[in-house]
Amino acid sequence: TRENMPPLKGDILVHAEGSKEGQPIAISELGTDLVRAWPMGKGENGEDIIRKGDPNNILVVYHFPQGQLVAPTNLEATIQGQTVAYSDICTHAGCTVGGTGEGMLCPCHSGQYAPKRGCVVVGGPPPRPLAQLPIAAQGNNIVVTGFFLTMPYPYIHEAEWDEFK
Ligand code: FES
Repeated sequence: TRENMPPLKGDILVHAEGSKEGQPIAISELGTDLVRAWPMGKGENGEDIIRKGDPNNILVVYHFPQGQLVAPTNLEATIQGQTVAYSDICTHAGCTVGGTGEGMLCPCHSGQYAPKRGCVVVGGPPPRPLAQLPIAAQGNNIVVTGFFLTMPYPYIHEAEWDEFK
């Protein structure tokens, strides 16, 4: 179903938790604290569909001061080199990763990621970075511009990956 589909081009990112759950994320309210997001697309009748049917769709969004986001982050896929979105699913065994923009930590086996550097692995067993999701600004909201830049999640099948690319 559309609720289970991964983030798709044109989706808007909405808050996944807290008092603003379900509301579009405003770029101006973001910072280096972790903000979790779901992609929201359209249903068959044009209604809003939040894609939370698959827990693997959980995302994380940060906004850093200019100059702090560096390679291997793909800056072209960020908003003005400052706002960035990643999958929040650990590439080791699929736990939801916590922490902040200064450093992310997986609660399951202590995998560590560096959000300012493309969420590369800086500790523990994860085999790959948290996958960066390409985004752009749509007013003060965030729109998805394509599929993940690297393979997300631990268990995605190559065939599925090829389909989404
Ligand atoms: Fe994240 Fe194992 S699931 S380190």
